[in-house]
Amino acid sequence: MNFELTEEQLAVKEAAREFAEAELLPGVIDRDTNQLFPTEQVRKMGELGFLGMMVDPKYGGGGMDTISYVLAMEEISKIDASASVVMSVNNSLVCTGLEKYGTEEQKEKYLKPLARGEIIGAFCLSEPEAGSDATSQRTTAEDKGAYYLLNGTKNWITSGNSASVHLVMAQTDPQKGHRGINALIVEKEMKGFTVGKKEDKLGIRGSDTHSLMFTDVKVPKENRIGEDGFGFKFAMETLNGGRIGIASQALGIASGAYERSLAYSKQRKAFGVPISQHQAIKFKLADMATQIDAARLLCLKAAWEKDHKKNFAQTSAMAKLYASQIAMEVTVEAVQIHGGYGYVKEYHVERLMRDAKITQIYEGTSEIQKIVISRELIKL
Ligand code: CAA
Repeated sequence: MNFELTEEQLAVKEAAREFAEAELLPGVIDRDTNQLFPTEQVRKMGELGFLGMMVDPKYGGGGMDTISYVLAMEEISKIDASASVVMSVNNSLVCTGLEKYGTEEQKEKYLKPLARGEIIGAFCLSEPEAGSDATSQRTTAEDKGAYYLLNGTKNWITSGNSASVHLVMAQTDPQKGHRGINALIVEKEMKGFTVGKKEDKLGIRGSDTHSLMFTDVKVPKENRIGEDGFGFKFAMETLNGGRIGIASQALGIASGAYERSLAYSKQRKAFGVPISQHQAIKFKLADMATQIDAARLLCLKAAWEKDHKKNFAQTSAMAKLYASQIAMEVTVEAVQIHGGYGYVKEYHVERLMRDAKITQIYEGTSEIQKIVISRELIKL
């Protein structure tokens, strides 16, 4: 087994780190405080190829492997988890979903500008009464021959206002249960599409999370992804990959908090020595580093399985479950190591602690990951 990264992978990691420090760090506290979307920064991420990393270059992407994507997600999340959630949703849910299941026409029209980062996309599955229980879709897509008539409400949509293209899951035939759900490509400009309220969140406050309303939106039939009734399967398969992105985000939040804690503990003195010399702090650093390494290995294993066309549903759910759990634990310890300084904005770790919480909730709660993992275990 080879744990060494290739030169190309190391270059991607370095480029992401440099970008995050030069472009995301300045202003990150202000964007968090005032809930400002990182418009300019996301535009630059697109120019640098971070929004369509794994997409085939013939569709405007970077043609990179999933390992490189994990590395870049970690570096960007160390600094700004609001920017990295936009990156994660665009890459692993929207671009991957379209590239894997879209028609050539859909790829030409939607995937190319999304992969080049000229526009961004959103993934619309959750509803007011269908979060974890995703089969209970109330949004309807009535088959009208040449088009679907879309009606309903989606909740908690990342990039809800900033996105131009939305992949929307909706029920066409309730008799068929989850096999009656379709996935439709919906443009923000379509008549009857309204962006609802922006959520005032605990963390990832720079990202824009909205509810969306659809009132008699006419979505052309050619905008359906896959066969009739494929929508739920599309969402589940796509979320398997999405979980690698969010696991890497959680990993980055944890490693960002750890790096800040390590540096702080070497410079801050108490009782005549740097606090890193006290066993109480040494033990915390050792636990944090061990947890982060274990989470990173799970993320990379899931990425490797995906790149090698293996079934990665179980490992991606394990990576997401574990990385989000340790992100919460590590960031709480980071605040503790910083003492009073950790409790104020300027030292960044309180923001990372708030950001960590969402990773245990979105793209399936921790409990959902356990359902996914055990489904795979029992199946084997
Ligand atoms: N991979 C592939 N297929 C899967 C799957 C997986 N991980 N999990 C379920 N399926 C398939 C099953 O094979 C089955 O298909 P068939 O009937 O054709 O065999 C079908 O889906 C239904 O499966 P279940 O009967 O197991 O479905 P269920 O109702 O018991 O629930 C669930 C399954 C795993 C709990 C699912 O509802 C789920 O994943 N819920 C969480 C949804 C979620 O993650 N939402 C996040 C929204 S996106 C987001 O947060 C993005 C963002 O903005 C950051």
